[in-house]
Amino acid sequence: MVKRIFSGIQPTGSVTLGNYIGALKQFVELQHEYDCYFCIVDQHAITVPQNPLELRKSIRNLAALYLAIGLDPEKNTIFIQSEVPAHAQAGWMLQCISTIGELERMTQFKDKATGKDSVHAGLLTYPPLMAGDILLYNSDLVPVGDDQKQHIELTRDLAERFNKKYNDIFTIPEISLPKVGARIMSLQEPTRKMSKSDSNKKATITLLDDPKQIEKKIKSAITDSEGIVKYDKENKPGVSNLLSIYSIFSKKSIQDIEKLYEGKGYGDFKSDLADVILSEIKPIQDRYHELLESTELDEILDRGAEKANLEANKMIKKMSNAMGLGRKRKK
Ligand code: TYM
Repeated sequence: MVKRIFSGIQPTGSVTLGNYIGALKQFVELQHEYDCYFCIVDQHAITVPQNPLELRKSIRNLAALYLAIGLDPEKNTIFIQSEVPAHAQAGWMLQCISTIGELERMTQFKDKATGKDSVHAGLLTYPPLMAGDILLYNSDLVPVGDDQKQHIELTRDLAERFNKKYNDIFTIPEISLPKVGARIMSLQEPTRKMSKSDSNKKATITLLDDPKQIEKKIKSAITDSEGIVKYDKENKPGVSNLLSIYSIFSKKSIQDIEKLYEGKGYGDFKSDLADVILSEIKPIQDRYHELLESTELDEILDRGAEKANLEANKMIKKMSNAMGLGRKRKK
């Protein structure tokens, strides 16, 4: 049987080079071998405050980007989480077998909640919702970046717990990380991950940045005063991050790139890096703008929701039966 994939991205702000390398590029490669469900996880987005008008826009934009990077809508199921109510249902059932202690230990929760006077409950119960996303589809593999590791571990724990306590209904999913670029770092603080929510716009490159912005951001990326293009994550985190990005976009090995810039400074390296990034993302940007204007996009999302609803509802039935929810009709 063909194996299943599920993954999702939050429709908040612009998609970064980190999202592209950590997740989207994997989606494009894996779509040929797997039966894939690619979701726009809008219910995850509302765990922190959002502007409703902006959110709506971002959801459709992200769907257009999924297609623009080359995901084939005939092969993959592309859909919006909130259009498949089973996600919220599964999330609730899985919350009821999660403990507050394990949810409080999630580093992403701690990062977002620490120091805040008031934190919404959704931020705490985000991981069981994510587990529901994955488990609803009997997913074998979940392509994500490194920062999602802990959430996938919890998903596996919850699936095993449910299987043992109730009925053996869930497939235990595996994580898929990219070989290079599982954690792309900020261009301004290269010991922190590149993040959509970074307030310093110079720290992130987005897939929709124009050529001038990309050149400028790469040029101002923090490196060091050594002037040697060499991979050394400990001592040269900035240059190492740029080397990883270069290697991914150029498909050259890090050693080959190091050789290419032997005896040259960071100037040439950075300007070539901007070129290799642009040559891959410019065609994506062109397709994206065309798709946004089309009704084709809405038809694809309608079809995706229909298929996802059918599949997910089958699992909700199994979960409900296992937990004893609802009633058995008299024949
Ligand atoms: P999100 O929306 O924050 O990020 C989407 C994907 O991008 C990856 N990523 C990165 N990869 C490498 N370097 C980076 N700097 C970087 N920043 C982000 C993330 O690892 C992710 O794969 N909880 C998820 C969304 C989600 C989900 C799911 C994912 C909800 N349900 C089910 C998989 C399966 C999130 O917030 O991703």
